[in-house]
Amino acid sequence: MAAAPAGLGDAPAGSADELLLDRTVTGRIVAVANLKGGTGKSTLAVNLACLAAVEHGAALLVDADPQGTAAAWLEASAPEDLPPGLAVEAWPAGDHPAIWAERIFRHARHQTRVVVDMPPQLGPGFETALRLVDALVLPVTPSAIDLRATALTLQRLRRVQQRRDGRPACLLVPNRVDQRTAIGRTIQRALRDLELGVAPPIAQRSSHASAFSARQWIGAHAPGSAAYREMAAVAAEFEKLLRTCPASDYGTDTAALKPAAAVADRAGEPGFAARRAQRQGILATLLAGFRLLGRPQSG
Ligand SMILES: Nc1ncnc2c1ncn2[C@@H]1O[C@H](COP(=O)(O)OP(=O)(O)O)[C@@H](O)[C@H]1O
Ligand SMILES: [Mg+2]
Repeated sequence: MAAAPAGLGDAPAGSADELLLDRTVTGRIVAVANLKGGTGKSTLAVNLACLAAVEHGAALLVDADPQGTAAAWLEASAPEDLPPGLAVEAWPAGDHPAIWAERIFRHARHQTRVVVDMPPQLGPGFETALRLVDALVLPVTPSAIDLRATALTLQRLRRVQQRRDGRPACLLVPNRVDQRTAIGRTIQRALRDLELGVAPPIAQRSSHASAFSARQWIGAHAPGSAAYREMAAVAAEFEKLLRTCPASDYGTDTAALKPAAAVADRAGEPGFAARRAQRQGILATLLAGFRLLGRPQSG
């Protein structure tokens, strides 16, 4: 086997299948993902992990993006600003997704919540994450270019849900929403048409950017603010989803942690046309909801 990437070299021995059959894993694993950068993944991952640590007394944030935004953010935080019980690890979802998944899975034994901040890339890491997690949190910004990436992310999700009996559950989080605009007011309704969980929207607020600059999570930076309350409302919705989503299938689905061999759609492959139609359907729903059809818009 090729050398493990930095940070994973000390992965404990034991096959993925052994771990899969280990029912002592009680933590819920959640990925924050969208194939578009700048939609608020790291902002959501940092704040949801901190809120989970406050709520449950322990949580792990895994920064799976090689850019390391979330880990750098919290590592630069003053210790007194961080919720006790929060652990942070930078484990990029790179070329060794099976080792990466095993590591996360092992830690889920000791954590109530594991929040994984994903990079905005298709690839074996992304496909493995979809097979690993209980739930996916998907920030959605009201811009046409981001919606295309969201549609692609959702199409991948649907494919895995078909194999995993509806898992992972999914919570769509409208982010950077301006209620003064038509798009801002319709985003929640449009997302509901997708028949996935939809969180209350997070507004575009300068305190999210200033919290990042100050290297603080929103509960330390602006406790009691509207930005904090909105984030807490998303966390509450997310906890509700986790309570209703089915218990982990890891005990029976031993394929769950296996890295996907091929991730690119190719014309001519079985199911290509159906997948393309599904993606176009999701995209059409999103775009119709946002009244953006034929009117590309970037912000
Ligand atoms: N609701 C929001 N209001 C204002 N700024 C936001 C909001 N959400 C995210 N941002 C800002 O947008 C930028 C990108 O967010 P980030 O969480 O890094 O996205 P991603 O991880 O998807 O690339 C950051 O500067 C962040 O502070
Ligand atoms: Mg990020």
